[in-house]
Amino acid sequence: MEIINRRVFLRERPNGMPGTANFDVEDQTIDALPDDHVVVKVDTLSIDAFIGTTLNEGSFHASTPVGGTITALGVGEVVASNFDGLKPGDWVHGPLLAQTHTLMPGAAFQKIEPGPNIPPSTYLGVLGLTTGLTAWAGLIPVGEVNADDTVVVSGAAGAVGTVAVQLAKARGARVIGIAGGPEKCRFLTEDLSLDGAIDYKNEDIDARVKQLAPDGVTLFFDNVGGEILDIMLDNLAMGGRVVLCGAISQYQNMDDVRGPKLYLRIAERNASMRGFTVDRYAEHFAEATEELSRLLTEGKMNLPEHIVNGIDNFPDALITLFTGGHTGKMLVKP
Ligand SMILES: NC(=O)c1ccc[n+]([C@@H]2O[C@H](COP(=O)([O-])OP(=O)(O)OC[C@H]3O[C@@H](n4cnc5c(N)ncnc54)[C@H](OP(=O)(O)O)[C@@H]3O)[C@@H](O)[C@H]2O)c1
Repeated sequence: MEIINRRVFLRERPNGMPGTANFDVEDQTIDALPDDHVVVKVDTLSIDAFIGTTLNEGSFHASTPVGGTITALGVGEVVASNFDGLKPGDWVHGPLLAQTHTLMPGAAFQKIEPGPNIPPSTYLGVLGLTTGLTAWAGLIPVGEVNADDTVVVSGAAGAVGTVAVQLAKARGARVIGIAGGPEKCRFLTEDLSLDGAIDYKNEDIDARVKQLAPDGVTLFFDNVGGEILDIMLDNLAMGGRVVLCGAISQYQNMDDVRGPKLYLRIAERNASMRGFTVDRYAEHFAEATEELSRLLTEGKMNLPEHIVNGIDNFPDALITLFTGGHTGKMLVKP
């Protein structure tokens, strides 16, 4: 066996926002298949915010060592197997890393069954751990969304946000999205039929929330943190809930994360703020997958894919996630 694997590795740790100089690419040869291992040909990789934090030392998610292949979840096809549970031709989901071929113990992967109506990338998007399942966990068991809610979602035109706003609509809530730029706001109100959208780059966020939610916001699903979180705390209804899904505005400097200044609003409004990590909600995944699959089948779940081709362009795709140059789910096809 001789397979050439092209991998993206960490050349040096970033100081703040990662740049292309922090990464490098090289070819390696896979010429042996140890017991219980498989080789997977990578089909699609998921570009996720947590990858950015793994570039730093002491990351909450395991840090990538300098010289190590960059972390990424993905889907791919088994091309060689010494593992009883998988055979060539099987499709899998798991920690494939930023490369074209992955040699790993077969037990690291979960078998998936893509079909004509469910392409493999769906397992990274609407049915993916870091996208659909995250939106579902944050909105339903954590946020306890209901039909009386006025929901605001930040990062609303990104992957988690796009699923979250549609799920909240499907559960009968009034839904407002916050996103950067008129095109993303048009996507939210016209393509996804939201009740309102706020362009945080060009509009007065506070004035627009007051206009769109005059009685206050009962549920804020936050992907962004920073100033937007403060403005939303100031606009919470009595008894409002805040779900801390992420804080992408703060990930460039994890040693100096800025917390909300207006946290006293939580006391004054008898409100609550709950954080979560999706992996803790595994007992809900079957129920979540069922609801998300049904919404997909009924045409009520639209998640555009922004596909970047070529493994060498993986670093650019990751940087774009932080600069907002995509709508929906950011993916790389090696
Ligand atoms: N709790 C969990 O278990 C869990 C699991 C997965 C993901 N997450 C979190 O979910 C959030 C969304 O992740 P995703 O993968 O779906 O990414 P995404 O939303 O597809 O992409 C990130 C988006 O964030 C926006 N953004 C970036 N920097 C910003 C800033 N400084 N201020 C305002 N908006 C900014 C950009 O959109 P604009 O163009 O609109 O600025 C960008 O498109 C992240 O915070 C991530 O950490 C949490």
